[in-house]
Amino acid sequence: MVNPINEQTDQFLNDVIDGLSKPKKSLPSRWFYDEEGSKLFDQITQLPEYYLMRTETAILREYAKEITENFDSEVALVEYGAGSGRKVRILLDASNRIRMYFPFDISTEHLERTVVNLQKDYPNLAIRPIDGDFMGRGVRLDLTNEDWRRVGFFSGSTIGNLSNLQISKFMQSARLTLESNGMLLVGLDLPKSLDVLLPAYNDAKGITAEFNLNLLKRANRELKSNFELNTFKHSAVWNAKESRVEMHLVSQIDQEVRIGGHTFKFEQNETIHTENSRKMSIDYLSQILESWTVDKYWTDENNYFALVLLS
Ligand code: TRP
Repeated sequence: MVNPINEQTDQFLNDVIDGLSKPKKSLPSRWFYDEEGSKLFDQITQLPEYYLMRTETAILREYAKEITENFDSEVALVEYGAGSGRKVRILLDASNRIRMYFPFDISTEHLERTVVNLQKDYPNLAIRPIDGDFMGRGVRLDLTNEDWRRVGFFSGSTIGNLSNLQISKFMQSARLTLESNGMLLVGLDLPKSLDVLLPAYNDAKGITAEFNLNLLKRANRELKSNFELNTFKHSAVWNAKESRVEMHLVSQIDQEVRIGGHTFKFEQNETIHTENSRKMSIDYLSQILESWTVDKYWTDENNYFALVLLS
């Protein structure tokens, strides 16, 4: 029997060793979301600087009826990266056609809590949590009625955290899961002024910094590495050529870190690249969607964020 916890830890160790062995050190962002990381991310979404969640939620509230009117039959909703499950409530409240809910999340504890809370408030909704990485292959959804339409919900501009290759893989996997008549509602953070953009990734309270550093804390906890947390600093920089905010952890000193029998050297100011948050226009997005096409979209009055419906 495979112990899933150990399997995860092995994968984490492999990823950390791989990432830190590269000439430009990096760590994959999926490891941000352990229990502590998921809590910190929830706090980020409530920060005044983090316009993304607020704006996306406002668009959802304003247009939920219009959005769900596009569901012309009963719906099984698949949420990619469900988190605390706050946003789906807006869709559930707007439409009585959503009969099943498949929340996908990489943080097991988070997922369990979300399911319990949601089931209390929506007793008639069939909830089928999927514990894991939604970047994998398509999953078979066992629907109460096979005629129901499968609709995906990929919110929070998580799509901006993916490379074009990852987006194309995700789109293909979503097509398999949601089938040929499926729909996909995608949250997209649009290009905008850096005065608005950069503070969202470098808040005054330092929660984003804590979230970024939690990756090293988690490595210390789970992989018994010896990162000195106060010698790494969070940094968020705009890469204009790639139209993305880059998150880094910058070593403040020359040092060595030990992980699982390996030693990694850091020079002062050397960085570990931990995340990209791309800002794409709807036009750009529409060119990289594989078998999907943009049907409709809704934005806020500032054009900060868009909810894009694909079919
Ligand atoms: N999907 C989020 C985003 O790109 C993830 C995120 C927010 C994030 N703040 C972060 C990732 C800070 C790393 C560091 O907006």
